[in-house]
Amino acid sequence: MPLSADDIRTLHKYDVAVLLSIEKQMKRYNWVPEENIRKSTKFSQSELEFRLGRVMAKDMVKSSTLPYDGYQLTFKGYDALAVSALVKRGTISALGTLIGVGKESTVYEALGMGTVVLKVHRIGQRSFQSARLSRDYMPEWKHFPWIFASTESAKREFEALKVLQKGGVSVPVPLTINRNVIAMTYIPGVNLNQSVFESPEDAEVVLDEILDNMKKAYDLGYIHNDLSEYNVMVSEKNVWVIDWPQWVEPVHPNAEDILRRDLGNITGYFKKKYRIDMSVEEALSKVVG
Ligand SMILES: Nc1ncnc2c1ncn2[C@@H]1O[C@H](COP(=O)(O)OP(=O)(O)O)[C@@H](O)[C@H]1O
Ligand SMILES: [Mg+2]
Repeated sequence: MPLSADDIRTLHKYDVAVLLSIEKQMKRYNWVPEENIRKSTKFSQSELEFRLGRVMAKDMVKSSTLPYDGYQLTFKGYDALAVSALVKRGTISALGTLIGVGKESTVYEALGMGTVVLKVHRIGQRSFQSARLSRDYMPEWKHFPWIFASTESAKREFEALKVLQKGGVSVPVPLTINRNVIAMTYIPGVNLNQSVFESPEDAEVVLDEILDNMKKAYDLGYIHNDLSEYNVMVSEKNVWVIDWPQWVEPVHPNAEDILRRDLGNITGYFKKKYRIDMSVEEALSKVVG
């Protein structure tokens, strides 16, 4: 179940204290003993039981009786801590509606200075271990709970967005990050796959605009690595390229193959839908040349 505005609004500061205590101790314990939570929160036994009952009912914490009585933060509990921190910081005043559920993220609208988008990263163990994220991003902890892996993916995307945006690439403006959640500006458009252009000329302008952005990104040291009609947003002839956590550098050993695949996805899409004939080679020369 994704996080709801209610989940956040009804989270009492003592509930948050319990979540924070468990989060902190999960770096040391697979299951955090109840006694440790009691010591660190300084709650009475009855207060603690009440709070644990509440956060468990919200599916933010789960418990185990084996190997001993202990508690773990769930993905939802971790997401709730991040979103609450953004509320506390004043980045947003309330969580809004869900606007996208991807393989590795959940995206919400939120109320901030205007509409803000929150991208909650959620990467699984398998993709963390495979090519998507390099081992360099794994902290040197003895015990690394998987809920924290998503934070590394969020950081990677946030840092990329900052550089790309400063460098003039059309991307959402990154506002702030907390744990696995990025706050960014809302893009008033639709995904490219859902857009229909008025004329082939308009489609051609948009294709050129995408390639122009890919060139700027390349010159800044970024190859997208998941470019497709699903990760480009458009409004009339304006273009934004989104979803950057898996970017690679131009010196990556497979950089050329990755870039060809990215560009092939886009030229293939415009060929199929608008009969625009641009070869991958031509696109490549525009980006790298
Ligand atoms: N800044 C934004 N403004 C508006 N919609 C967005 C924004 N970022 C993401 N979205 C929507 O959420 C979807 C999922 O986001 P994306 O970054 O592509 O993550 P995923 O890895 O799950 O595909 C996008 O396809 C888009 O429809
Ligand atoms: Mg996407």
